[in-house]
Amino acid sequence: MRTKMLCGNWKMNLSKTEALTLAANVRDAAAAYAEAEAVQCVLFPPFPYLDAVSSVLEGSPVMLGAQTLHEAESGAYTGEVSASMLVDMGCELVLVGHSERRHGLGESDALIAAKASRALEAGLTPVVCVGETGAERESDATEVVLLRQIEPLKHMLARCALAYEPVWAIGTGQVATPEEAEAVHAFLRAQLGENGASVPILYGGSLNGDNAPSLFSKPGVDGGLVGGASLKAEVFSRMLGQLRNSSGEDSFHVHA
Ligand code: PGA
Repeated sequence: MRTKMLCGNWKMNLSKTEALTLAANVRDAAAAYAEAEAVQCVLFPPFPYLDAVSSVLEGSPVMLGAQTLHEAESGAYTGEVSASMLVDMGCELVLVGHSERRHGLGESDALIAAKASRALEAGLTPVVCVGETGAERESDATEVVLLRQIEPLKHMLARCALAYEPVWAIGTGQVATPEEAEAVHAFLRAQLGENGASVPILYGGSLNGDNAPSLFSKPGVDGGLVGGASLKAEVFSRMLGQLRNSSGEDSFHVHA
């Protein structure tokens, strides 16, 4: 049985006051969905706000996640943040392999695997992001790229969530079609073998309140990793409802 998940990746946005207001609004809106265990909701604020957002979410079913971590346990890594620090702040999940870190900051597949491994060791669930660039899709290299990205992580993926985020769709307004997403999700799930039945695979890239219902209607799409639209409480809350009401009902558990 897979969990449906909606993740809000706030990236490097918001003032502290805005972050706390957004967290409180999502917490209040999410109560109905998360209580029914229909949808898991996770917020990924910037590091400096983790502690304060954690207090806002305390006692609520909305979970806290971080946007990245360092692969070492501790030590002389100025400016970096360790897995155990994130656990101390109340995080339960962490993003690894986001394209803004792969392509913007040069993180390699091996480094991303090391980060995921460190996260698991500390008890965090990695949300592993994978996805091809526009040029790679145009040259029919999508599957080759995805295989390369998941290869060093394969032995860990049963304990992760996966997010398919085509690079060409992130922050561009150019969302993948439900059919494109479904095809890639099916490919990824096939790579997971028997774990394919339990590992959630989320879609990310220009997801919003208008296009989410058609993507969520695909049985292989277990939820979303939302960037820009997660900064608006009303839109993100609406997407929680859309995910809860989406078809593919057999892939998650709803209490009567
Ligand atoms: P976007 O970002 O929804 O703004 O396209 C998604 C992401 O980068 O996780």
